[in-house]
Amino acid sequence: MNDLGSVCRAVLEAVDPRTKVMAARAAARDWRLGRLRFAFDRPMPARPARRDRPILLPPSHMPRRGRAGSQRTRIAMLHALAHIEYVAIDLAFDLVGRFGGMFPDRFADRWLAVGAQEALHFALVDRRLRVLGAAYGDLPAHDGLWEAAAATANDALARLAVVPMVLEARGLDATPPMIARFEAAGDMTSARILKRIAADEVGHVAAGVEWFGYLCATQRFDPVETWRKLVRQNFGGAVKPPFNDSARDEAGLTKAYYIGLAADCDPSHKEPASQQGGQS
Ligand SMILES: [Fe+2]
Ligand SMILES: [Fe+2]
Repeated sequence: MNDLGSVCRAVLEAVDPRTKVMAARAAARDWRLGRLRFAFDRPMPARPARRDRPILLPPSHMPRRGRAGSQRTRIAMLHALAHIEYVAIDLAFDLVGRFGGMFPDRFADRWLAVGAQEALHFALVDRRLRVLGAAYGDLPAHDGLWEAAAATANDALARLAVVPMVLEARGLDATPPMIARFEAAGDMTSARILKRIAADEVGHVAAGVEWFGYLCATQRFDPVETWRKLVRQNFGGAVKPPFNDSARDEAGLTKAYYIGLAADCDPSHKEPASQQGGQS
């Protein structure tokens, strides 16, 4: 019987996007059906395997998008989202493969389901891109999400603080205006895909809040104080409005966590690539 860590690693090592999607779905299914041992026999790679496309650029080098509402601009927005979802697959399986042994197996239940949803999100956006005559890899993308993961590779509490509770929460903030832009352009199909993704993402942020709280409780840490400290230490960007307060609240990420944090963030800290858009 395969161990859970090895199948998570296989997702990260998949180079071709379709192979990664299949591996992610199979891993989540096999875990659900009790076909994997709760063991982590192999370490996670420092970086997931990547094709040579999309080209990864620093955020400041990303090309400007075209006229609002044009097909070119909509393709650029969907391409950026496809990349976010693609990296989100790796982030979910890295979280389980790297830190799963520290938690009860319910942690793996939850995050493998998240990973399978990220795979579905990628597949939906990738298919939409193809209908519009483009494909994932056609445009450059930026590497901020994985940089945030690499910076927290040795600390489960910091990883949960930054990836689901800062970056995925930023996705909650960023998605409604994107949906409005697709609707204004008459692209209701893309808008529907984004709405579906936005609804799922509330659950991903909620999973972050829940398991961050679990780990804080085991160590008798105050979750809000601990989160604010870890975000200042591990996240170079500002946690800044506009916030989607209702979606954040639904996920359990109350204002006590994030209000006023923007002002406390150290401005001398390097601006991370993850400033652009949120994670889905
Ligand atoms: Fe997500
Ligand atoms: Fe997603």
